[in-house]
Amino acid sequence: MSTTSEASQVESFASDGGLAPHSLKDVPVLIERLFPVQKMSVESYKEQMANVGKTLTALGSYWKGRKPLILNKACILGTLLPATNDPVKDLEVFELLMGMDNDGLMRRMCAKGSIKHGDPLPRNSYHELVKKSKRPEELGDAFFEPIWDRVNTHLGTTASSFPDLIEQLGIARFGRRPIVADTFCGSGQIPFEAARLGCDVIASDLNPIACMLTWGAMNIVGGPPEERKRLASELKTLSQRVLAEVDRLGIETAELDGKLWRGKVYLYCVETRCPSTGWMVPMLPTRVVSKTHSVIAELVPDPDSQRYDILIRQGVSATELKAAAHGTVVRDALIHVVNGIEYRTQIKTLRGDFRSDEGSSGSQLRQWENRDFKPRPEDVFQERLYAIQWQEEGPNRGELAYRGVTAADLEREEAVDRYLSEHFMNWQAVGWIPDMKIEAGYNTNQPIRERGWTHWHHMFNPRQLLLLGLIRQCLSAVTFLPFAQALQCNARLSRWDNSAGGREAVKGVFDNQALNTLLNYGCRGSRYLLKEMDKTLKESSIHGSARIACGPAEAHGHDCDLYVTDPPYGDAVKYEEILEFFIAWLRKNPPPEFAEWVWDSRRALAIHGEDEGFRQGMVAAYRNMTDHMSENGLQIVMFTHQSTGIWADMANIVWASDLQVTAAWYVATETDSALRQGDNVKGTNILVLRKRCGHSKTTRDDLAWELEEEVKHQIQTLTGLNQQALGLYRDENLFEDADLQMAGYAAALRVLTQYAVIDGKQMSEEACRPRARGEKTAVDSLIDFAVEVANRCLIPQGITESHWRELEPIERFYLKMLGMEASGVSKLDNYQNFAKAFKVSDFRSVMQSAKANSSRLKSAAEFKRNDMGEGSPLHNTPLRAILYAMMELGKDADTDDVLAHLAMNVPNYYAQGTRDLIVALCQYLGTVLEPIRPDEASHARVLAQSVRNQRL
Ligand SMILES: C[S@@+](CC[C@H](N)C(=O)[O-])C[C@H]1O[C@@H](n2cnc3c(N)ncnc32)[C@H](O)[C@@H]1O
Repeated sequence: MSTTSEASQVESFASDGGLAPHSLKDVPVLIERLFPVQKMSVESYKEQMANVGKTLTALGSYWKGRKPLILNKACILGTLLPATNDPVKDLEVFELLMGMDNDGLMRRMCAKGSIKHGDPLPRNSYHELVKKSKRPEELGDAFFEPIWDRVNTHLGTTASSFPDLIEQLGIARFGRRPIVADTFCGSGQIPFEAARLGCDVIASDLNPIACMLTWGAMNIVGGPPEERKRLASELKTLSQRVLAEVDRLGIETAELDGKLWRGKVYLYCVETRCPSTGWMVPMLPTRVVSKTHSVIAELVPDPDSQRYDILIRQGVSATELKAAAHGTVVRDALIHVVNGIEYRTQIKTLRGDFRSDEGSSGSQLRQWENRDFKPRPEDVFQERLYAIQWQEEGPNRGELAYRGVTAADLEREEAVDRYLSEHFMNWQAVGWIPDMKIEAGYNTNQPIRERGWTHWHHMFNPRQLLLLGLIRQCLSAVTFLPFAQALQCNARLSRWDNSAGGREAVKGVFDNQALNTLLNYGCRGSRYLLKEMDKTLKESSIHGSARIACGPAEAHGHDCDLYVTDPPYGDAVKYEEILEFFIAWLRKNPPPEFAEWVWDSRRALAIHGEDEGFRQGMVAAYRNMTDHMSENGLQIVMFTHQSTGIWADMANIVWASDLQVTAAWYVATETDSALRQGDNVKGTNILVLRKRCGHSKTTRDDLAWELEEEVKHQIQTLTGLNQQALGLYRDENLFEDADLQMAGYAAALRVLTQYAVIDGKQMSEEACRPRARGEKTAVDSLIDFAVEVANRCLIPQGITESHWRELEPIERFYLKMLGMEASGVSKLDNYQNFAKAFKVSDFRSVMQSAKANSSRLKSAAEFKRNDMGEGSPLHNTPLRAILYAMMELGKDADTDDVLAHLAMNVPNYYAQGTRDLIVALCQYLGTVLEPIRPDEASHARVLAQSVRNQRL
């Protein structure tokens, strides 16, 4: 980590030549002008899909919502690089730095072995090329060596590495190496990338688990090799100690056929008494134990004791395996057959679920007490060990075998219980096993209601508590992280995955983001558990200094130049609840490195939801950041959210925090279809913010034209760049329609948030004003207005402005939405927004489906004859006549007849310009329909050709 003082940096840099200190002080930054969102989407997606190949994931695969490192890099560079008066060059240099230029891409493909050195770049889409490439971060610093001359020539820098460049740009803008803060650091993806680039970093989060992961990113993955060596050696010692104790207790090994076997996985299920028959029935959603080894559990009735013996059969036939897919629990009901009669009981009936008068739900299960670690005999839900996967002990990977439970196994279970009982109180007191209560909450209510569990240790069975407790005694800072990773793979909520192809495994609790209880689960033996702790970690040095603090964002107290944050905006993940799973284990006696942190999730201080409390929390946090930001500092705020309401919310928060928006972008980050902006779009909105200067005033009337000008200007700039890029690069747009729409919104926010006073109202006060649910404020209506203006300015690419002006609102709506449909849009929301923007009252008449998530316009063939009549908004419009003609062509009508009908249906068909308009619209339809209805697209092109060649 670097320790150069601020003064010496400035001096040494000045004498080196290059950029002068503060020379970029007031120059706009690149991300305020442009950001190659389409390519960024592809790159982010590539990283998200890398799973375990991701740089920081192995430190804690349970963490939800990691922001892609490549996106973080782009944001940080984007806030430091200047926007010059040559945007094309700016973009080129930015792409060089991101490894997204053609040459970089070729080298990335070579590294992956997809092309050979010297081969030309295949003419595929960027998405296809990136699929066959390595990620730039996988190729290390050497990958960027060839770029520095070109970068320096454009920027006037003298860099030969990212830390050099960051330092020089920082000094030119802020007079020092830039200090970057993330006050909602989560798993540390943002601060890690900032430090890796060479920024000085301050990372904080309310939650100590987030701080621990960030610490791991900086000190283990990003730290010097000695730290990883320390980790390896500590893990080795720890493993030896734990195994020795387990063996001393004799709770895991058994001799059979002259070989020594060790329990690798213990399979448990819930067992309950059927209220109709009085039988004890194992609750197994499936009787398949392993698909790979064709193992099933067979339930053998024992009428005398009214229970089932469970036989484990290995190597069964495919038919038997298939038959075992159904267990005793089907669709939330327990099913078993006695004397040929099937008895069925709903699980909720077994639990005695109820809803209180106040609307909350609960069950009549006994609430477990702290001293319980297994069900009591009177409990509705008992627990039963029903199979063990054994592994032969030996130096190599030993043979695996599944066996049923024997008397000796049950004795070993009892030994575990005895040992735990003896040590339970003491271990809780010193913090080797948890004693923390489960506080009620959105996610935490589930285990309370479904099992009666009241303390976090109830989520672990005795064998798990014993093993984890033994490990917990030996932990240091570096081993805290792998321990947390192991915790979630060895709980009563850890699913047993019986997959074929050798993929069977005990899975993590946080494979999803809830605390789902399970009817059967896997418990790991010690070797298998310790292996989870010994995962190979990546190495990637950080260059800047890194400080980590545990506290609320509103109390962050360091002055910084840049803030890059990803706040919990309307987040589906309740971090403050689910992370208590880990806090419960780690909070007592943490190692000195983590001792200053508050080992509590402090739910009351966590920002969450979307209501008044959320807004107030966000304003307090962002106002504090404004107060601690350099005058010319910048902020990037990322959030993943769909609803259009976010714009009003964000404007309020920005205003109330004395910030103003200077740009906004949308990058698809989550799913495959996100790349096509389809139904499942999950992307990241990126807002660029600066301090609001002065107290500018305006009126709503003046705002109207200003908004319109700004939105138009923004959209023209981006479409202009699209045109230039088409010539320069390949056949893809840099910005698609949805990007332009977003840029339009951003422009609107930019205009609005620069004013402190609108129509005599102090906007920061107005924005803070508490409001009732559903109340529409002045800010909301201003945003609505701005969004409408933005949408109105969005002329579909391929239609000229003069033609656009000639169209009726409903025609504009149809053409615009068709273009959006072609790129995957199908949410009713979008149709409603554009209908409003284009002032179309009856847009449903042109919709074939108006379902929330699968809306669609009518195709040419789906319009009915009365859609042409006087009652229809499309009556007498050229578009309707064109669609009719396309329908006729689809029915193989004679072209001359089609043209004759067209001439009849379009008023003033023969007037100058009308036929030009028809040709233009047909060409547009021919292009946008191609990906969704190629037949219709072809009819549109034929029509364009026929009209153009028509002899008059
Ligand atoms: C969306 S996550 C950040 C994810 C992170 N960017 C990553 O890539 O992993 C939001 C974070 O905000 C934290 N948080 C919630 N309320 C907070 C508050 N008042 N102050 C600081 N952090 C808070 C949560 O603990 C969570 O870690």
